[in-house]
Amino acid sequence: MAKTYVITGSTSGIGKAVLEKLSSGGENLIFAGYRNDKKLPAEIPENVQYFYIDMTDKKSVIDACNNIKKQTNHIDTLINVAGNVVAGPIEKIDTDRLREQFDVNTFSHIELTQNLMDILQNSKIINVSSMSSFGNFPFISPYCASKRALDIFFNALELENHKNIKVVSVKPGVIATPIWEKSVNANLEYLENCKGYEKELDFVKNNALKNTKKGLPVLKVADLIVKIDGLKNPKSSYTVGNDAKFAQIMSILPQGLINKIIKFGMKYRMDL
Ligand SMILES: NC(=O)c1ccc[n+]([C@@H]2O[C@H](COP(=O)([O-])OP(=O)(O)OC[C@H]3O[C@@H](n4cnc5c(N)ncnc54)[C@H](OP(=O)(O)O)[C@@H]3O)[C@@H](O)[C@H]2O)c1
Repeated sequence: MAKTYVITGSTSGIGKAVLEKLSSGGENLIFAGYRNDKKLPAEIPENVQYFYIDMTDKKSVIDACNNIKKQTNHIDTLINVAGNVVAGPIEKIDTDRLREQFDVNTFSHIELTQNLMDILQNSKIINVSSMSSFGNFPFISPYCASKRALDIFFNALELENHKNIKVVSVKPGVIATPIWEKSVNANLEYLENCKGYEKELDFVKNNALKNTKKGLPVLKVADLIVKIDGLKNPKSSYTVGNDAKFAQIMSILPQGLINKIIKFGMKYRMDL
């Protein structure tokens, strides 16, 4: 049966792979969010309607929703994918960068959902969260906090709503997408100029660059999202990858023990 979707972050990585899967066959109607028109494909399938959205700009989110609501009166599945990574030591990071992290990864998804609520009924919301939601990893705490907050807010929506909306959180581990390189470029100010943290941040930067290659293929996440979309009663949370499963198991340990393990692991890997 043909379905109608809204997806953000559809011009790269996981979102692009999900869009390609959902649009193949031509039956579904997909509203796909982009922020940079240079990243749109040369040939756009007839069943894909791209819409402009900047997740740092509330007006752009509201305009996008109004536009979508003019074109359809029902969304079967809303897939919140857009995201970025803000990194740096909490001692030094500018709090405006923390606000930006929450705007992109958390608040904009809430705004989008609120403004599409009129056309969500018996629908699914699939959020691309992260294994970072399970914990508090050093130097990417803004990212971890934004994903944890996303999961908490949307779990509340699932508990509270009277419209039979099912919320699912997908928590991937490391996936090979451009996000890693983008995160290094966007956070160079902290990764390269933080007096006192040079060794740790050099490790974080090199690790991020390695992740671009060593991560799981995007299809692992895209296939899972399509599978979840087809399930009548999906679980509330799914992990992708052994690293994400490990993070989930770790998260049930006492915080003091988790911190000891993380500090030991980081020192061991930095000294290699
Ligand atoms: N890759 C991983 O290892 C991993 C692991 C766990 C969770 N995730 C999550 O998966 C999601 C997708 O990330 P990805 O790995 O596929 O990275 P990606 O390739 O960089 O894709 C991110 C998408 O979000 C869009 N985006 C970022 N900031 C935006 C803004 N201000 N306004 C509108 N759109 C914006 C990007 O637009 P452009 O195409 O214009 O850049 C891109 O389409 C993110 O939420 C990320 O946190 C990724």
